[in-house]
Amino acid sequence: MTDQEGGEEYLFKIVIIGDSAVGKSNLLSRYARNEFNQNSKATIGVEFQTQCLEIDGKEVKAQLWDTAGQERFRAVTSAYYRGAFGALLVYDISRRSTFQSVSRWLGELSRSVKGDGCFPGAELITNIARFSIIKPFIAMHNSHSDTTVARMLVGNKCDLEGIREVSVEEGKSLAEAEGLFFIETSALDSTNVETAFEIVIREIY
Ligand code: GTP
Ligand code: MG
Repeated sequence: MTDQEGGEEYLFKIVIIGDSAVGKSNLLSRYARNEFNQNSKATIGVEFQTQCLEIDGKEVKAQLWDTAGQERFRAVTSAYYRGAFGALLVYDISRRSTFQSVSRWLGELSRSVKGDGCFPGAELITNIARFSIIKPFIAMHNSHSDTTVARMLVGNKCDLEGIREVSVEEGKSLAEAEGLFFIETSALDSTNVETAFEIVIREIY
């Protein structure tokens, strides 16, 4: 660790949210470890992982929080959105219901990111602030929301073209309407996985 040596260091919290089984955990494991699990178990609560990358010669650490999509964990996971600088909002292009849930996830995100009170994320952010330079929030080009989180709409499982239920155009126009970035990915064949994370990280940075 070179935290005390005066070198600039950035640490950002990014949350991955969306319905259960859309592939959030596999997107993260593909990005962080180049691993894919055909039979992955549903996430319980939240798990996080830190990923280092270099942008413009600076070391950037992204703390990636993988949250449970299952309804029964909703109260727990939304508490962890607080302090997030970026969010990947994931749906499954082969299951329309997961796309229809996107607006609900957006609502939860904007409510929870700025919530008051003593959430687990608050303590974490205090600790982060102690040894990191955190850039000011970046205002997103989103006129009808006061959120300042860099948000990416992710249509995952684009390898399942044969059973696609949500078109690329639908994804794009929802993203445009809500002021989100948009990308389709496949954790299975690695399509755009790195790009999705890095666009969000760069936008924050
Ligand atoms: P929760 O933890 O319950 O919220 O689910 P999750 O969003 O983390 O989903 P997970 O990553 O566990 O993946 C669910 C299932 O989808 C698993 O069987 C994965 O193998 C599969 N899966 C994930 N990503 C892809 C993908 O890009 N393509 C295909 N074909 N399957 C995928
Ligand atoms: Mg999971």
